[in-house]
Amino acid sequence: MRVPVELRRSVRLLNHGPTTLITASAGGRTNVMAAAWVMALDFNPPKIAAVVAEGTFTRELIDASGEFTVSLPTLALLDATYTVGECSGRDVDKFATYGLQTTPGSVVSAPLVEGCVGWLECRVLSEPGPQQRYDLFVAEVVAAWADDEVFVEGDWRFTRDEHRTVHHLSRGVFFTTGQRVQARRLP
Ligand SMILES: Cc1cc2nc3c(=O)[nH]c(=O)nc-3n(C[C@H](O)[C@H](O)[C@H](O)COP(=O)(O)O)c2cc1C
Repeated sequence: MRVPVELRRSVRLLNHGPTTLITASAGGRTNVMAAAWVMALDFNPPKIAAVVAEGTFTRELIDASGEFTVSLPTLALLDATYTVGECSGRDVDKFATYGLQTTPGSVVSAPLVEGCVGWLECRVLSEPGPQQRYDLFVAEVVAAWADDEVFVEGDWRFTRDEHRTVHHLSRGVFFTTGQRVQARRLP
């Protein structure tokens, strides 16, 4: 079940570096793309950084709306995740074609992708330099959600393989999120 995540804990959703799905909406169009270059940037207020390349349809919609969402797909969504990173929403309705269901965001206009295990609703902060030079968006997290079967009391607990998030290496090869281990601080 999707439950809210406290904003101060929301960047924990990204600390393990999963490949994500970014959605954006503007002017009656909605789109989704794969994005691996997404990272936590600050705790409070929570901020993230995301690379969204110039020329993508998603970039056009983010530029128009100033908002986007980040959804964390699982192994069960691997092929759809890869595929929406290999084609453009200018040419195809990726949601309908690749069977991705959505639910509305609570605060932003862009939707959340169903079947994922974590979700961040984001508003772009004005950083025109990095945006233009590096396609790098800095955004504030204004709402966050997680599947309470997998993200328990602010911590990931993957028990079923199909729930594991994925990490892109290259050309469609991914790792899934692995074993949980506890480090101890050396004396
Ligand atoms: C696994 C994967 C990860 C990707 N990560 C990023 C990323 O972090 N930033 C980016 O701009 N494009 C990334 N891409 C490429 C976009 O998803 C791709 O350009 C997409 O076709 C853009 O779609 P759009 O034109 O519908 O927005 C990635 C692609 C794949 C397959």
